[in-house]
Amino acid sequence: MKKYKLNNFKLNRRDLLAGTASLGAMTFASKSVLSDENKSKNLPPNLPEWTSELGEGVDANPYGMPSEFEKNVIRRNVEWLTASTESSVNFTPIQDLEGIVTPNGLCFERHHGGVSIINPKDFRLMINGLVDREMIFTLEDLKRFPQVNKFYFLECAANGGMEWRGSQLNGCQYTFGMIHNVQYTGVKLSDLILETGLKPKAKWVLAEGSDSSGMTRSIPIEKILDDCIIAWAMNGEALRSEQGYPARLIVPGWEGNMWVKWIRRLEFGDMPYMTREETSKYTDLLSDGKARMFTWVMDAKSVVTSPSPEKPILHKGIHQLRGLAWSGRGKIKRVDVSLDGGKNWKTAELHEPIMSKSLARFTFPFEWNGQELLIQSRAIDETNYVQPTIQELQKIRGVNSIYHNNSIATWLVSKTGKVDNVRLG
Ligand code: MTE
Ligand code: CO
Repeated sequence: MKKYKLNNFKLNRRDLLAGTASLGAMTFASKSVLSDENKSKNLPPNLPEWTSELGEGVDANPYGMPSEFEKNVIRRNVEWLTASTESSVNFTPIQDLEGIVTPNGLCFERHHGGVSIINPKDFRLMINGLVDREMIFTLEDLKRFPQVNKFYFLECAANGGMEWRGSQLNGCQYTFGMIHNVQYTGVKLSDLILETGLKPKAKWVLAEGSDSSGMTRSIPIEKILDDCIIAWAMNGEALRSEQGYPARLIVPGWEGNMWVKWIRRLEFGDMPYMTREETSKYTDLLSDGKARMFTWVMDAKSVVTSPSPEKPILHKGIHQLRGLAWSGRGKIKRVDVSLDGGKNWKTAELHEPIMSKSLARFTFPFEWNGQELLIQSRAIDETNYVQPTIQELQKIRGVNSIYHNNSIATWLVSKTGKVDNVRLG
């Protein structure tokens, strides 16, 4: 049998700094297998129990669920951010996820009036206003149009909103978890509009949800014609009710509030509708008391998901720092990582596929010998926009904002390996 050594090998320091450490030279095994900590009779050289008896039958789980040992990987809410369960938010456990796809059952939820439960037979999408032919589509009608299958992130504009003036919430899930990334199946709005026609004066669309919150947002026609979608599926199956079943609007790269769930109507007009959600809400007050109007695009941002407050460092030696980066302006071009609070930066490895307006996964190998670290990541997108520090953001936007905080976060790793959310400077 191969002999494993975990803590004994050392990476060449130059390799580490260059981020080019080769995995070929490394051997790994789980620590519990190596040590005597776990005395389970299921460990080698014994034959485990599950080998000597038959497993569950195929009918045990008609709809598969995660292993019972993964029951900690769930959406969570913050009590003091929860006005009521109907007007509420919970957070995606991004610290526990790998790759870039968010499993459907873990996508964070944000509802302003609870989850509507809609029989798809009663679904209708009405298109009215400045079009040549006002039309009403059933779900089956929509599915007869050419389809698209696209990965996009959805980030609530309030993601990280509690962190404007200082670090408040000690968790990766709570400070970055108002985001998910799934593959949507749907029809491009530009294709639906070929059917209805457009009057020359049509410049804006009012998108309206059918839930009790009556969610409405104005969207400029250029965006509608560019890449907006009416989607009925996520990650290969029907939308979950929480995500707008049977159909929702997809507004790639733009703030989550515009992605109207349980969509019922699109009205074409010649000016913005100035709804509650784009006037008294989802706007930010600047230092001079004026509000920023129409802050649609989600600027480039990144987060180190491990180590993080929920993912302390448990042993010395080599570790793979892991994280996510995204930009509402296109593809992620580069992610830099710092272990010393932004004094020195190294380039992380980006993992394929890198798609426009989708999460991108990065990793970075580092060695930990019990020293304090100040871990940061910084995303750069294909427009060369660089994720800012909170100080840079505050210089322009003041401290009264809630929405659109895309600043660099800092995780402090203490000598025990514990990780905390801290504010530098
Ligand atoms: N659409 C409707 N009809 N009702 C809502 O409450 N919430 C919005 C948006 N669309 C909302 C809605 C907000 S603020 C966000 S961030 C996203 O949906 C959240 O989408 P999710 O619940 O799929 O994560
Ligand atoms: Co939101």
